[in-house]
Amino acid sequence: MKNKQNYQDIMDRLVEIGLLLASEKNIQKLLDRIVEEEMNFTKAEGGSLYIRKGNYLNFMVFRNRILENKIPRESILKRIKKSRFEINEKSIAGACVKFDRIISIKDMSKVEEMGFSYDRSIDKELGYETKSLLSIPLKNPEGEIIGVLQLINLPEESFTEEGLRLVRATAAQAAIALSNGLLLDELKKAQLDTIYRLAKVAEFKDRETGDHIMRMSRVSMFIADSLKHDPDFSELILYASPMHDIGKVAIPDHILLKPGKLTENEFEIIKTHTTIGAEILGNAETKLLKVARKIALYHHEKFDGTGYPEGLKGDEIPLEARIVAVADVFDALVSKRPYKAPWPPDEALKYIVSQKGKHFDPEVVNAFVDAYDRIIELYKPPTGSNSSP
Ligand SMILES: [Fe+2]
Ligand SMILES: [Fe+2]
Repeated sequence: MKNKQNYQDIMDRLVEIGLLLASEKNIQKLLDRIVEEEMNFTKAEGGSLYIRKGNYLNFMVFRNRILENKIPRESILKRIKKSRFEINEKSIAGACVKFDRIISIKDMSKVEEMGFSYDRSIDKELGYETKSLLSIPLKNPEGEIIGVLQLINLPEESFTEEGLRLVRATAAQAAIALSNGLLLDELKKAQLDTIYRLAKVAEFKDRETGDHIMRMSRVSMFIADSLKHDPDFSELILYASPMHDIGKVAIPDHILLKPGKLTENEFEIIKTHTTIGAEILGNAETKLLKVARKIALYHHEKFDGTGYPEGLKGDEIPLEARIVAVADVFDALVSKRPYKAPWPPDEALKYIVSQKGKHFDPEVVNAFVDAYDRIIELYKPPTGSNSSP
């Protein structure tokens, strides 16, 4: 009877894990969740997760209950030097992939005798001891190994036949969630790529570089991040903002590219890129395109009500558009344009701050200032590059 109850509990728990993991749409959160749930289920002290990319394993997650109580997680992560390694029989995780089986090591002091090389430097540095380990291959429904889950310092019973069977069952749940998560992530990347390419059409017409949309969408995301701390919202902004000027495709070149000052009438025509953009993105079913439409329509509104096309004020302007307005202007200021030299970023920052409550929402400006360190990284030339053409 007790066994039956036990079995029922385990089955319930398995279903629960499956549902929980299936509901997580953010890939990094999903990976964290997989490790966390597996640790809970097996009562392991620590866990890590690797994703397979061809013949390599990429290190993605590290969790450890004991260490995280002593040291902040970020500083543990900093000490993990190898973020990627080749799959071969020398490493435990590598062997797990190569031989397509669970590697179970009940006593880690014998790990070298078993033919593995194991880096104990982190244990030593952090005053920790890895005593036992399970390395489990994670397979997609096609049977291909897509990752490795590693659990450390597990109770004795995990190494029994029954224990290993359970580990295998939960790992199968995790693997399906992981496989779906990776597919979704790939789909999102493809979607973002398509969005950038479409948005580029409008940018090309305007003689701006394609880099403008790349940067301004990331600046928008960083602002959103420090404003709301909600990764889903930040991601939505990242994906929806590149299309803000899509309506420029319909503006005649002689107006859009006019080197001199625009007449009042010409400026009225330029302004229609907002309403045309909204029309292009209108009547969409998806949340992404609905937000993109709002951004296209309202990114030239100003907080004090002096913007266009509708002269909306304050909170009447959708938050997404208030965010993009700051990012768009900042990137335009620090970029070189045919009619102006690039502003030094700190000057552009001062300008943005000076427009608090006028052009821009004060709270969005505060969030921009909070995110400034991250933002400015986008404008540094990549290390190792030189300036020659
Ligand atoms: Fe615009
Ligand atoms: Fe723009």
